Amino acid sequence: MGTLDGKTALVTGASRGIGRAVALRLAAEGALVAVHHGGNEEAAAGTVARIEEAGGRAFAVRARFGEAGAVDALFEGLTAGLAGRGLDVLVNNAGIGSGSSIAQVTEEEFARLLAVNVTTPFFVIQRALPLLNDGGRIVNMGSTASRFAVTSQIGYTVTKAALEAMAPSLANELGRRGITVNTVAPGAVRTDMTAGYTAVPEVVAALEGITALGRLGEPEDVADVVGFLAGPQGRWMTGQTVDVSGGTWLGPLG
Ligand SMILES: NC(=O)c1ccc[n+]([C@@H]2O[C@H](COP(=O)([O-])OP(=O)(O)OC[C@H]3O[C@@H](n4cnc5c(N)ncnc54)[C@H](OP(=O)(O)O)[C@@H]3O)[C@@H](O)[C@H]2O)c1
Repeated sequence: MGTLDGKTALVTGASRGIGRAVALRLAAEGALVAVHHGGNEEAAAGTVARIEEAGGRAFAVRARFGEAGAVDALFEGLTAGLAGRGLDVLVNNAGIGSGSSIAQVTEEEFARLLAVNVTTPFFVIQRALPLLNDGGRIVNMGSTASRFAVTSQIGYTVTKAALEAMAPSLANELGRRGITVNTVAPGAVRTDMTAGYTAVPEVVAALEGITALGRLGEPEDVADVVGFLAGPQGRWMTGQTVDVSGGTWLGPLG
């Protein structure tokens, strides 16, 4: 028996990285998982295959966030896959990064960051509300970037802070239906998004040096926390941001 037997879940950006690990985790608990991706069909099929090989159930849904009609496309694929069932767990994980300082970020880049990381999840939540079953869960993927300064990612930081700001109001609005809304805020996690700097030993050493648990995160470190929030044990937590960074930048070490 899994904690999510009989439940359904949508994980955006589940073709790779943290989203894939979350999809695997929720499916292992028994949920039927909609594996959303932005165009990498092969990677999404890989996630679905891994879930099915482990005895779980999943289907892929494509929608390119930032393009016109993306939310419509997402819900068309989602409702077809759910075949009349409601949605129990929504994980807004899909996102894009940025390596631009304030002097470097262009209006075009900033608009794209907002579109993919803020506007689309906002309207995905809006569209999901009638589908969400009472007792459901919404988890938004934030970042420690909204907690401490990361000069080289200021545009990204602003989008993650905006996403994080949605949880308290939504939690109040949806609480009487037993629906919880939380933000999970990872620190540096080894994925394609961070491959550029996690390949540089000096950068890794510097990050480890400001992290209480002394290493970078893995996607499963984050997925386990999402799994907790998505399941029955997370029922009394809502409107919160959960830092999942191994204690990154808590203060001077030693
Ligand atoms: N990695 C970290 O250190 C870290 C730390 C804090 C927070 N986060 C957050 O965690 C989330 C996942 O990050 P990750 O590191 O796992 O990223 P990743 O490995 O780069 O994977 C990104 C996922 O998002 C999807 N995606 C990207 N752009 C999209 C678009 N325009 N439309 C639809 N889907 C799109 C990708 O789909 P395709 O495969 O189809 O491209 C993929 O499934 C993001 O919100 C990120 O900001 C990551």
